[in-house]
Amino acid sequence: MGRVVVFGSINLDTVLEVPHIAAPGETVGGFGLETFPGGKGGNQALAAHNAGADVCLVGKVGMDAAGQQMIDFYRGEGLPIDGIGNSELPTGAAFIQVERDGGENAIVVVAGANGDFTVADADAVEIAPDDVIVAMFEVPIAVNEALFSRARGIGAQTVLNPSPAHPCPPGLFASTTHLVLNETELAVLSGHPISETSSDGFIAAAVSALEAPAGMVVVVTRGPGGARGFAAGDVIPMPGRRVDAVDTTGAGDCFTGVYAARLAAGDDVETAMIYANAAAAISVTRPGAATSLPTHAEIESLLRRKWS
Ligand code: RIB
Repeated sequence: MGRVVVFGSINLDTVLEVPHIAAPGETVGGFGLETFPGGKGGNQALAAHNAGADVCLVGKVGMDAAGQQMIDFYRGEGLPIDGIGNSELPTGAAFIQVERDGGENAIVVVAGANGDFTVADADAVEIAPDDVIVAMFEVPIAVNEALFSRARGIGAQTVLNPSPAHPCPPGLFASTTHLVLNETELAVLSGHPISETSSDGFIAAAVSALEAPAGMVVVVTRGPGGARGFAAGDVIPMPGRRVDAVDTTGAGDCFTGVYAARLAAGDDVETAMIYANAAAAISVTRPGAATSLPTHAEIESLLRRKWS
């Protein structure tokens, strides 16, 4: 069983509960404000850790109270912190509006320390052939590219979550073995106008337009609609589970982290998707990002239950 190595962002999230997400020029009265641990990299690493993987989170925090808060949180969760370094820049921060009904969100991120990575940092990451390397777009994309290229040279699997949505440079795309993305990210990468109401056929056409290299697995997460996998010419449909969502923040991170954990455990794509889909369904029923991630036992328990 390999490790899950997450090269990624760490943020302190400030969450504003709102009646609806503010439109441009609109002022909305919020119901409350809370801080939570977050950042896509930290969330993905903790999701994999909670799911039972041996995880290394490579990240950076500032030498400030927020950075200390994040380190203390990970330590309390049992997530190894030896891959987390210090930066002169402040700890990354996210400002998140979460709708009271349904838990939809909108996020503004200030990168801070997450932008303070160089290729030398990527070169210092230890990689073994059976490791699964995870990266996303909250750390510099060029550094991800160097990391994935080396990982592929060693034979490790690479999971890219191209979030926040941004076009993917060809070199990084070519070094990715598993692309896990939501509808918004698929629209940006494919140029197809995807929405949550797009048909499965439309999603499949957008995935084809990516012109993924042979062997790349593409997994599209569809929120309440579940996920669709595209692997070696096969489509793997994964319906969503009906749950009462209170906060969807971090659901994609939960999916990605658990998916990587199951790949590292040797599961095939469909099995990894089943676990990831169940984990994400649990995560949206709880507030916060890193605080909403289920344990392996909770995922197993949901999987034993009948579909609803
Ligand atoms: O994906 C959710 C995460 O995005 C939040 O935790 C926030 O920090 C932003 O990075």
